[in-house]
Amino acid sequence: MSQQLTNIQPLSQPVAMPDEVAKFSPEIEAEIDKHLAKYPVKRSAILPLMFIVQRERGYLDPPGVSYLAKRLDLRITDIWEVATFYSMIHTRPIGKYHIQVCKTLSCKLLGADKITAHCAEKLGIKVGETTTDGRFSLSEVECLGSCGTAPMFQINFDYHENLTPEKVDRILEALP
Ligand code: FES
Repeated sequence: MSQQLTNIQPLSQPVAMPDEVAKFSPEIEAEIDKHLAKYPVKRSAILPLMFIVQRERGYLDPPGVSYLAKRLDLRITDIWEVATFYSMIHTRPIGKYHIQVCKTLSCKLLGADKITAHCAEKLGIKVGETTTDGRFSLSEVECLGSCGTAPMFQINFDYHENLTPEKVDRILEALP
């Protein structure tokens, strides 16, 4: 590891920490320790740790962010910079099923807008919203790497491809 990389330091700008810091069970702490041990530079574990905090708390809430800042010796701002860059990290409560419609070129040309509008109408929400029962959230995201089977969306970790409004209905109605 080059000197340059091991010497990465957080900026000195002070950032207020929320009072509450998330707490986790000894099992989760052990899982977090295991990830931290993989990297010579603590901050490199930011994404795996974010996924754990999100899994345990439903989304990256302020106490979760505060916890990550402490464990990784980073500023709150450093955590938010990463959290707000990735569409798979949620900084607000999210529905049980997160529908992410790809809006990039292939999907756009083959009807992504129609798919998004159909989901929005069927669920009674706009892009960026969650249904009142907490079951569905709807987002538009950039290319999900499945351009050959456009238009497509991802629901949680599953891809659904070659979508039509009828196929969307079948997929959503089959969800438990
Ligand atoms: S453009 Fe939609 S998956 Fe790539």
